[in-house]
Amino acid sequence: MDSIVVGLQWGDEGKGKVVQKLSRSHKWIVRFSGGPNAGHTVYHGNTKMVHHLLPSGTNENFLFISRGTLVDLETLNSEIKEISKIYPDIKERLFVSPYCRVITPIEKWQDGAIEKTKGKNSVGTTGRGIGPTVSNDANRVGIRLFDLFDQNHLKEKVDLLAEISNFGDQSIADELLSQFEKIKDRVLDPKVEGQILFEGTQGIMLDPMYGTYPYVTSTPTIPSFAFYGSGLKSEKYEVWGVFKAYTTRVGSGPFPTEIFGEAGDDLRKRGSEFGATTGRPRRCGWIDLPQLEYASNISNVDHLVMTKADVLNGLEKVGVCISYDKKIIPYDLGSLKPTIEYVKGWKNLESSEFADFISAIEHHVRRRIKYVSYGPSEEEIFQR
Ligand code: IMP
Ligand code: MG
Repeated sequence: MDSIVVGLQWGDEGKGKVVQKLSRSHKWIVRFSGGPNAGHTVYHGNTKMVHHLLPSGTNENFLFISRGTLVDLETLNSEIKEISKIYPDIKERLFVSPYCRVITPIEKWQDGAIEKTKGKNSVGTTGRGIGPTVSNDANRVGIRLFDLFDQNHLKEKVDLLAEISNFGDQSIADELLSQFEKIKDRVLDPKVEGQILFEGTQGIMLDPMYGTYPYVTSTPTIPSFAFYGSGLKSEKYEVWGVFKAYTTRVGSGPFPTEIFGEAGDDLRKRGSEFGATTGRPRRCGWIDLPQLEYASNISNVDHLVMTKADVLNGLEKVGVCISYDKKIIPYDLGSLKPTIEYVKGWKNLESSEFADFISAIEHHVRRRIKYVSYGPSEEEIFQR
């Protein structure tokens, strides 16, 4: 069966590790959304790698960056170079769709300029040019990978984009072409046969349509986009919804269960909650059951996977948001009042208090937690 792995919160749920675990029973790992804003931390044996564009997985897998993904060629090439030290044959197993949208220095500059103009209302983007790449593409002035096969055509397109964006630098096309040269022979839509694992990015609450707009990313994060974004079909698939035993968020926007002050700092330290892409401290808070229920329903999740369960070990009490004063409305999440209940903490994951915590989540979200992950390595996970 095929699988789709998505994050049920605001990203950084530990999808990379879960994908790596599930990759053993799939042939293809396919990225269908997001771009270098993503940061999936994966351990290959003892070596830690943060994947921004390359799908997670192992030396057994074929990797496909499909058309729904935004590509920054420099990031992609440096990631390939890095991972080639572990998997020297990586390039032979990698395919990048020619339809992928290309992030240029113009979009990165626009991202920063828009954020600066927004001032206190800024989104807190990763600065990777995500939003402007999507909007330039929607305006039909963006660059796609297929544009790079023809130098003169590319130069015309870059000139137009620069003119429309009031961007002065003329050397962009040459730089793009020289990066493209390194990856050119892998730019093709492959024939995909065998079990597919679709690797989601960010989290459901950052989806531009279903999340906390305008504090969202700009490519869809929901599972149904796996098919639109990749152009692939699946006869039979399961959706895996990954969430942390608590909640984090990077950037601005509503976060009803956020913990401020020392307690928040403590959780951040315990969970090493610093952005994998930008290094920013992540905002930390308690688990939010109505939020998880909303995200699971929107995603039609089949199985839940809890990560970082061990981070809460030894806390005297653990907060759980059990309800809101009104039905959840993602774009208006900030105006809802959460009710947070404190349950007794647990010493370790064998404790009955932890079993109660698990049951409360399963009961509320009406789905089974199939795996519990309790550390970064592939072995530190148990099936229930
Ligand atoms: P953008 O995707 O860079 O435009 O950022 C939009 C919002 O999504 C910001 O709040 C980012 O912090 C957040 N975001 C984007 N990618 C990730 C991710 O991989 N993990 C967590 N937050 C992310
Ligand atoms: Mg991340």
